[in-house]
Amino acid sequence: MKEEKMKEEKIVVTSALPYANGSIHIGHLVEYIQTDIIVRALKLAGKNVIYCCADDTHGAPIQIKSTQLGIKPTELIAKFQKEHQEDFAAFHIKFDSYYSTNSKENQYFSNLVFERLKKKGLIYEKEMELTYCENCKRFLPDRYVKGECPKCGAEDQYGDVCEKCNSAYKTIDLIKPYCTICKGTPIRKKSTHFFFKLSVLSDKIKKWLLENKNLQKEVRNQILTWIEEGLEDWCISRDKPYFGFQIPGTDKYYYVWLDAPICYISSLTNYLGGDVKKGEQYWNKSKIIHVIGKDIIYFHMLFWPAMLMEADLTLPENILVHGFLTVNKEKMSKSRGTFLTAREFLKLADPEFLRFYYAGSLSKTMTDIDLDLDDFVARVNNEIVSNIANFVYRTLSFLNRNFDSEIITFKDDKFTKKLEKLFSETTELFEKYELRKAVQNILQISSEGNRYFQEKEPWVLIKKDSKKAHEVLSLCINLVKNIVILLKPIMPIFAGTIEKQLNLSNLSFNDLNFDLKKHKINDAEIIYKKIDSIISEEKGGVKMEEDKFLKLNLKVAKILEVKDHPNADKLYVMKIDLGSEQRQLVAGLRSYYSSEKLLGKKIVIVSNLEPAKLRGETSEGMLLAASDEGKGSVGVLFVEKSEPGTTVTIDGSKPCETIISFKEFLEVSLVSKESGVFFEDKVLFAGEEKVLVDKKIKGKIS
Ligand code: 2FM
Ligand code: ZN
Repeated sequence: MKEEKMKEEKIVVTSALPYANGSIHIGHLVEYIQTDIIVRALKLAGKNVIYCCADDTHGAPIQIKSTQLGIKPTELIAKFQKEHQEDFAAFHIKFDSYYSTNSKENQYFSNLVFERLKKKGLIYEKEMELTYCENCKRFLPDRYVKGECPKCGAEDQYGDVCEKCNSAYKTIDLIKPYCTICKGTPIRKKSTHFFFKLSVLSDKIKKWLLENKNLQKEVRNQILTWIEEGLEDWCISRDKPYFGFQIPGTDKYYYVWLDAPICYISSLTNYLGGDVKKGEQYWNKSKIIHVIGKDIIYFHMLFWPAMLMEADLTLPENILVHGFLTVNKEKMSKSRGTFLTAREFLKLADPEFLRFYYAGSLSKTMTDIDLDLDDFVARVNNEIVSNIANFVYRTLSFLNRNFDSEIITFKDDKFTKKLEKLFSETTELFEKYELRKAVQNILQISSEGNRYFQEKEPWVLIKKDSKKAHEVLSLCINLVKNIVILLKPIMPIFAGTIEKQLNLSNLSFNDLNFDLKKHKINDAEIIYKKIDSIISEEKGGVKMEEDKFLKLNLKVAKILEVKDHPNADKLYVMKIDLGSEQRQLVAGLRSYYSSEKLLGKKIVIVSNLEPAKLRGETSEGMLLAASDEGKGSVGVLFVEKSEPGTTVTIDGSKPCETIISFKEFLEVSLVSKESGVFFEDKVLFAGEEKVLVDKKIKGKIS
């Protein structure tokens, strides 16, 4: 393709938008690293590419979570937007635009698409019966209602699909449903919603799928099967309370999955300075490439193309679908220490090692990607350190030491031609998104370099024929330059460092050649050394702080009786009610509370602590209190409304059922601040109620 033509061609690449209510983890990173590598490669090939993404900020979970935290949704999403952007930057993922679905451009485009679909008669209203919690005063989305599966009777199943028998159903079909927020029993309630007539577009979508030759076969076939089975119309509105855009002239909100993909266009518009007309035009003149995970193909290959084609917007040229991440062939798991957030990973290894590892595992299929931790260490040591970094350092340092850092002209056509062929093959592989094969080629090129260096023995040659040795080195320097260029998309920082050592800059795919002659390089420095295992057995896996917290089984308990300890003047012996049982507790509160003050109070206890004898009296659990060490003040943790037996957690996780030792309890550091009790920066809740300390104390909980 002619260079001018290439510049004219506009390409927009996107990654899926991460939800703004959780941290980025190493599973998410597969996609962002994959996309970033593709974008960097396209740019190095001289293409005009814009990489767009955003935080996915709308929906019920964000509204519910912010209510629980007592903050505004906008505060919650701002916190995560900042965290996400920092994490992406740490992994060198470089967006041209990182925007938010909660933006005026996105509101504009959501309304625009909705209006255009409506004009074509593709939107209608229908009354439906839904699950409603009168306690929480809200309709309950799938994930907020549980009950028995209507098909197989399995208990504790979510409102959309049964994990036991895989059957899909509606929330109203659940038997003995309960609201996961307040544990109350929901009712059925009618509400009128907007629907998008997807069913009538089946043939059009099918045509697009069949005509678009770029789509992966396995993905296309999956979608075609769904179409054959018959498409249902799509409900695109939600009732309040909801965090999202209100549909003009109604009291309903756009469903999060309507405005999320639209934000691909809004993020592009943001890149173009916020001019919506320009944004739409640019989108329509571009080749759009989406990168997504296999869990969201339904949205991207049915709903999204249908919306685009009917709203007169350009459809994606390609949708690249990747598989899930497994660690050591299993689902990431907190207890195995393999559920790592981006931040946690940064403490273990260089982020570019992960980029390299993922690139070496990614192909154009939906196959899951396995992060095998032993293999990770082996590949870093064998491929990056012993192969690539070794070739780079031995070449540069030899030139530094023996030839005053300067190269001369050389000729070895047979060898260089063979390599040039490998270079162009590699750039083609990048263009075809075949990252694993591209990595294999780079390693082959570097191995060729090492072999050449070894065979020519410049350290021997220099004594017999110094010029010849100098030529060998000059060719090797050129080869290092080419390896740097090909590595740039994958390890931009490592490549950039070597580029500087070579005394070069702005290298691109255009510079893939052996044309560097008469050039002086800088001093070589060792960049990487071999690494040890990143998560070792003897350390017992990575003990993440949150894992420690998850060991606690905290419960609300009501104090039924308070007596002085017969043998200790600082201790009380209390009888408490835990809902399903009564227990005896010993607590050192006599200097701080009268027995009347404590009686009837609803406190928080560690209920799974091994029983202990305190001066002859058994304590079955431990009461939690805050103390401002030294100042002599102690305040118990308490709740007002929650019933005895209610679990106290930070994120609604299930309580731990095993008994723990006092030592294990001490590993968890809980603190009290002005407004509540915290583990790290997460608030402790009993159901929906914040746990409080009954005195103003800033200090540790024990
Ligand atoms: O599945 C998810 O994490 C969604 N937040 C992805 C949205 S991608 C796009 F449609 F916006
Ligand atoms: Zn409820």
